[in-house]
Amino acid sequence: MKPTVVVLAAGLGTRMKSGLAKALHPLAGRPLVQHVLSAVSTLEPERTVLVLGHQADRVRAAIGDQRTEIVLQAEQLGTGHAVRQAAEAIAAASGPVMVLCADTPLLTAGTLKDLLDLHVRSKAAVTLLTARIENPFGYGRVVRGKTGVMRVVEEKDASAAQKKITEVNAGIYCFDRKFLVAALGLIGKSNAQGEYYLPDTIGLARKQKRSVAALLCNDPNEILGVNSREDLSRAEAVMRGRINRQWMLDGVTMLDPGTVFIGTEVVLGRDTVLYPNVSIEGKTRIGEACTIHSGARIRSSVIAAQVVIKDCSMIEDSDIGRGASIGPFAHLRPGSVIGEHARIGNFVEVKKSTIGEGSKANHLAYIGDATVGRDVNIGAGVITCNYDGFEKHRTVIGDNVFVGSDAQLVAPVTIGRGALIAAGATITRDVPADALAITRVPQDIREGFAGRRRRMKQKK
Ligand code: UD1
Ligand code: CA
Repeated sequence: MKPTVVVLAAGLGTRMKSGLAKALHPLAGRPLVQHVLSAVSTLEPERTVLVLGHQADRVRAAIGDQRTEIVLQAEQLGTGHAVRQAAEAIAAASGPVMVLCADTPLLTAGTLKDLLDLHVRSKAAVTLLTARIENPFGYGRVVRGKTGVMRVVEEKDASAAQKKITEVNAGIYCFDRKFLVAALGLIGKSNAQGEYYLPDTIGLARKQKRSVAALLCNDPNEILGVNSREDLSRAEAVMRGRINRQWMLDGVTMLDPGTVFIGTEVVLGRDTVLYPNVSIEGKTRIGEACTIHSGARIRSSVIAAQVVIKDCSMIEDSDIGRGASIGPFAHLRPGSVIGEHARIGNFVEVKKSTIGEGSKANHLAYIGDATVGRDVNIGAGVITCNYDGFEKHRTVIGDNVFVGSDAQLVAPVTIGRGALIAAGATITRDVPADALAITRVPQDIREGFAGRRRRMKQKK
């Protein structure tokens, strides 16, 4: 049975002490709300309604998913009040209504499905997800009686005895549609926070002699609610553990998985080795048998097989061919396309440039807005002067060109294939194929000058 899903994300998240709405805080590189929405999408809901309030426009832009409907909760009067904002979708639902909080990002699709299955089987008015946790502080406590769950009591309303209960409410529920519609109209706000509490629907169901079912989640991590930065760091650690474990199962070596950060949308090839302190972000794809050394940060890039990324290199929106070697301390800025077996060495910056197969820029160079052919040698200290203070211009370097050390190529300029650029040259005009371009002042030798000067200074 397809559920109608309501996700609550209107709160600012006061305990985060942030200018950014809680739903937008990133976890493993994706906004919190996105994690919940992607778990929800596996249920193929009839409709998904997201309740927004604080920074609604920014949240809307961040999710960018047309299928998620958005309703606004102008004033945050509690989780019960938030669900009421989705009244239209709830009234129209043909199946059960599932309600989730946007701040439980570790929830898995499997648990959501189990909750829905239990709800359908038990025919309960409401089925809630619970877990037993060591430190239940802050969560609503699940009060059980002889016949099962009786109600949920919030931390601030709990008695000393209730505070000792370690079974907590995950904030994730499945409702019988009719029951929910009626219950939302009945819950009040006479509690410690003066809010309409959604969990009050559970006590209400019991009062109405309706059945309440509960699914106890075995992994307490799954229900972790992110309310503070500390919770966020915990969630990050759990998420990182899950992601890294899966990649290791799939054949990736990690020397120190506790320090490796891999985004949820990253794809890695078998036999790739990740050294400590590596971050791989965005929609990066890395091929088989690559080695990524410490301190590398790779964002939204495509890296073929057998590539070596040496220490402390930063790679963004770039494409690297098979067998290439990058770094140490290299910076590939957006739009860099590095050919097979090419080498980009230390302190080399590449931007919006194509480097052909087998070409090398091993030391201290800037290659911006350039097209570099195959088997080109870019010497130490070479700079493409791509900016004239107003506009960017291109440099084109043909195959087999040798650019001597410390040359400056003032763009726009084209170097023909096989040409030789002498060390220290300032190239301002095109160089034909196979030519030598040299812009050197002739060397002047003054025999004995240095010795005479030294003696003169010593006399004084
Ligand atoms: C809530 C539950 C608690 C449960 C815990 C699990 C209530 C009253 N309490 O507490 O039983 O153990 O989650 O994590 O529901 N929101 C709105 N509009 C509002 C208020 C909240 O959209 O007016 C949203 C928030 O943005 C958030 C979610 O609802 O995503 C939960 O709100 P939060 O304030 O974090 O509730 P908790 O105190 O964690
Ligand atoms: Ca919460």
